[in-house]
Amino acid sequence: MLEINNLSVNTLDKEILHDINLSIGDGEIHVLMGPNGIGKSTICKTILGDSNYQITSGTIKYNNETLNDMSVTNRAKLGIFLLNQNPITIEGVTNAELIRSVLSQNSKEQINIFKLNQEMVDVCNKLDIPISFIHRNINEGMSGGERKKNELLHLWMLKPKFIILDEIDSGLDVDALKLVAKSINEYYETYKPSILIITHHLDLLEYIKPKFVHVLENNTITLNGDISLAQKIAKDGYNKANVVEGN
Ligand SMILES: Nc1ncnc2c1ncn2[C@@H]1O[C@H](COP(=O)(O)OP(=O)(O)O)[C@@H](O)[C@H]1O
Ligand SMILES: [Mg+2]
Repeated sequence: MLEINNLSVNTLDKEILHDINLSIGDGEIHVLMGPNGIGKSTICKTILGDSNYQITSGTIKYNNETLNDMSVTNRAKLGIFLLNQNPITIEGVTNAELIRSVLSQNSKEQINIFKLNQEMVDVCNKLDIPISFIHRNINEGMSGGERKKNELLHLWMLKPKFIILDEIDSGLDVDALKLVAKSINEYYETYKPSILIITHHLDLLEYIKPKFVHVLENNTITLNGDISLAQKIAKDGYNKANVVEGN
């Protein structure tokens, strides 16, 4: 479904990613790990089409369609969704307004406001967030944990097919982590999307079981494996995992 071939990416004329190859099939769950500042979020934002990142070579294809020059909006319309590491505040736009606007753009049918509202109430209850969030400005005045849950509200309402979770587990307390992980798991069981997870921790992976693990080091993907690779990294760190794998 998502095919990244020989992808190199620059930001501010500096090469951040070099010759990345990654293929994520329908309904597959992949994890990307790597030290801080190595380019994990850069991959996520490049897939989404953030103009701060320039593709200098290679291709990103989604269902055989090349994304390289496609707008962020059109990528979102294809069902690609990023749960940001640092969800941004959007002043003057409420959750309800955004969700209604996106859904009405994507659908030819008239949106039933009453039904939509009821669906948002159900999702808020499921995520243990107050229903007042529905009419609050996006992420404004929300704590770190609340922002991540607010992103999940968008996820459940917009029902994307390809989800990127960029450190969704960072800054969450144990209860919030459990709830977020369960919610993603339930979403996966319901809609069977493809998922790319960025994380440093095994906790999340105990709930959402990935089949494929990739490690990003020195601008490129250096290791590919299964969950045992993630376990090795959690235990020994990146350098040792590399040595053990190399043997
Ligand atoms: N918009 C940007 N402008 C300048 N430098 C950036 C930008 N985005 C990322 N970088 C740099 O690219 C490198 C990789 O960043 P990032 O992808 O956020 O790493 P990670 O998510 O793996 O921690 C870092 O050195 C970071 O400072
Ligand atoms: Mg990051």
